[in-house]
Amino acid sequence: LDNGLARTPPMGWMSWGYYMCGDKCKEKPEKCLDEKLILSVVDAFYNEGYQEAGYEYIIIDDCWSEQKRDKNRRLVPDKKRFPRGMRFIADYIHARGLKFGMYTNIAAKTCMLYPGSRGYFDIDAKTFAEWGVDYLKVDGCFVEEDFLNIAYIKLGQHLNNTGRPMVYSCSWPYYIQYIHHKKPDYKAIAPHCNMWRNYHDVYLSWEAVKIIIQHYAEEYGVLSAHHGPGMWNDPDMIIFGTNSLTESQSRVHLAVYVMLSAPILLSCDMSKVTAYEKKLLLNLDLIAVGQDRLGIMAKPHSLEYGVTLWVKRHLPMKGDIYHSYSFAIVNFDSEQHLIHFFPKVYGIDSADGYTVMDVFSGEFLRNVTLHDPMQVTVPPDDVIMYTFFPL
Ligand code: GLA
Ligand code: GLA
Repeated sequence: LDNGLARTPPMGWMSWGYYMCGDKCKEKPEKCLDEKLILSVVDAFYNEGYQEAGYEYIIIDDCWSEQKRDKNRRLVPDKKRFPRGMRFIADYIHARGLKFGMYTNIAAKTCMLYPGSRGYFDIDAKTFAEWGVDYLKVDGCFVEEDFLNIAYIKLGQHLNNTGRPMVYSCSWPYYIQYIHHKKPDYKAIAPHCNMWRNYHDVYLSWEAVKIIIQHYAEEYGVLSAHHGPGMWNDPDMIIFGTNSLTESQSRVHLAVYVMLSAPILLSCDMSKVTAYEKKLLLNLDLIAVGQDRLGIMAKPHSLEYGVTLWVKRHLPMKGDIYHSYSFAIVNFDSEQHLIHFFPKVYGIDSADGYTVMDVFSGEFLRNVTLHDPMQVTVPPDDVIMYTFFPL
């Protein structure tokens, strides 16, 4: 969607992955989705370096409202959990230079059966705009295929009519493919949405992350064709801070997502992010790969032993001709492997050679010529990642 927004993949936080509905605050206080939680995320972003690294959107997912609309048919935030309303939260977020996201569904109810926007597109778009919303996630449960194809476009027009810029995140292709068993028409979707979910929800385990990564590798041809500034395929949230991953698994998770130019949305209690995860999240060399302004989805190449080489071309560096490149070698096998490859085969073309940076350590490895082979040892469930800068 060419609305000037999401020119690089959005980064931030979203409630669903860890807190899910979060509406049973008495029984499960540690999973309560309320004002206090949202403000704690804002404070962490503002005070702990996340904002400077590019984390910007703080998004309230499903289950935030009262069960009934008010007498003017407007949505009402849950009075117990959001006592000061959404405008208060938006102001708190905006005062710190961050951005505010919310959630609705295209049907009459949300996926968790709270009030949805069907029949209220105009009112809801205006309400979100008045509240100061900068990003709207719109789910697609419970409606027929024809309605999905019409309604996402319509709601987008209502959002546009408000005059307030809002990143428009759609789940349109997900429901077309996995609920209605048709092939999504990405060419038709991309002009109407800034980003879209197209695969199953992540859950809090390494298995889930691996399945998503493998899906993106398999569907590369379809997905990469409609992916770039203003239009991003969204593989769902990052599961850091939930005690789900080893250090090497967390490296793979974030490395592949930035290689894909995927949105980077955390979902956790920010105080539970480990020191190592935080180091990755604030690694500006890693983040720069994902925020590269060309926004090209890395291409996966299957090597031997279930090892995948992901290759991403960045903006030109030198004389606007030679591009830098990132290579991520991911090993999903259960054993360590020694891998050889020739970067030249994957597109590097500067006759003056390249200087090679190890993205995780930030160290410069060495300079290479166009024809040098690379040789790397990749442990199981791990990744080696390099950026090549033209000399
Ligand atoms: C769907 C979405 C999730 C989340 C829930 C909320 O499952 O894919 O990301 O928004 O609905 O109910
Ligand atoms: C699944 C999804 C949830 C929600 C419910 C709705 O459990 O994971 O996000 O959509 O279905 O029934």
